[in-house]
Formats: sequence, structure tokens, C-alpha cells
Amino acid sequence: MNVGIDIVENKRLENKKENFIDLILTSKEKEEYEKKGLSYLTGRFAVKEAIMKALPNTKEYNFLDFEVLNNIDGSPYVVNHDNLKISISHEKNYTVAIAILKE
Ligand SMILES: CC(C)(COP(=O)(O)OP(=O)(O)OC[C@H]1O[C@@H](n2cnc3c(N)ncnc32)[C@H](O)[C@@H]1OP(=O)(O)O)[C@@H](O)C(=O)NCCC(=O)NCCS
Repeated sequence: MNVGIDIVENKRLENKKENFIDLILTSKEKEEYEKKGLSYLTGRFAVKEAIMKALPNTKEYNFLDFEVLNNIDGSPYVVNHDNLKISISHEKNYTVAIAILKE
């Protein structure tokens, strides 16, 4: 088992250009971002950083290696990675996320 955590100051990701978004969000995530706005982006950014920290060889991954969607009940999950368990929380100025790798 391993764990990763990340915190994002929300204003750092305000008004980012399309080419930055394209490095962070998959096309399905972008569809949700267009509906939900900044908190969706900060949550995906934080949780993907947390996932990379939880994995061995952290630096070999990039944001598009992981797609994080939400179940009907709102809980987030990593597509095609049942061994990764994640959680995200938002506040006005900060977003935090944690990832646990189950081996
Ligand atoms: C789901 C819940 C925990 C979200 O908490 P919150 O403080 O409103 O919001 P947070 O910012 O901390 O959490 C939001 C994130 O939680 C996650 N989330 C949403 N529903 C979830 C669920 N059912 N299980 C786990 N995680 C959930 C999502 O990742 C969401 O972020 P995202 O939409 O960017 O992916 C909350 O709405 C809830 O259901 N609380 C328990 C029940 C309750 O409070 N009942 C009221 C009794 S009076």
C-alpha cells in the first residue's frame, strides 16, 4: 500500500489557457469542466498529483495517464485503475486530494 496527497491553491489555476487544460484533462473530463468550472479543474489537478505521488516512479506519469470521473452518488474514481482509491475536498481557496494505492 502507498499513499499520496496534494493541495492546490485554487487561484493558481484560474484563467488557464486551453493548451494548459489539454495537458491536465481528458476529453471526458473537459466536458465536465465546461459544466462545473474551476473547482472541477482544481480537483482533477490535485487528485492526479496525489495519484502520481502514490505510485512508484512518480515522474514517469503525466496527467493524461489518469481519468477521474464520478459515480452516480458523486464519489470519484480512477478509470481502469481499481487499485487506486481517491478522495477530493474543496474549499473556497484550496482543494485537497488523497490517493491510496492498494497492492
Ligand atoms: C458528498 C459530501 C461528503 C461532499 O462533501 P462537501 O463538504 O459538500 O464537499 P467537498 O468539497 O468536501 O467534497 C466534494 C467532493 O467529494 C467527492 N464526493 C462527492 N460525493 C461523494 C460520495 N458520495 N462519496 C465520496 N466522495 C464524494 C467528489 O470528489 C467531490 O468533488 P468533485 O465533484 O470535484 O469530484 C456531502 O455532500 C455529503 O453527502 N455528506 C454526508 C451526508 C450529509 O452531510 N448529510 C446531511 C445531513 S444533515
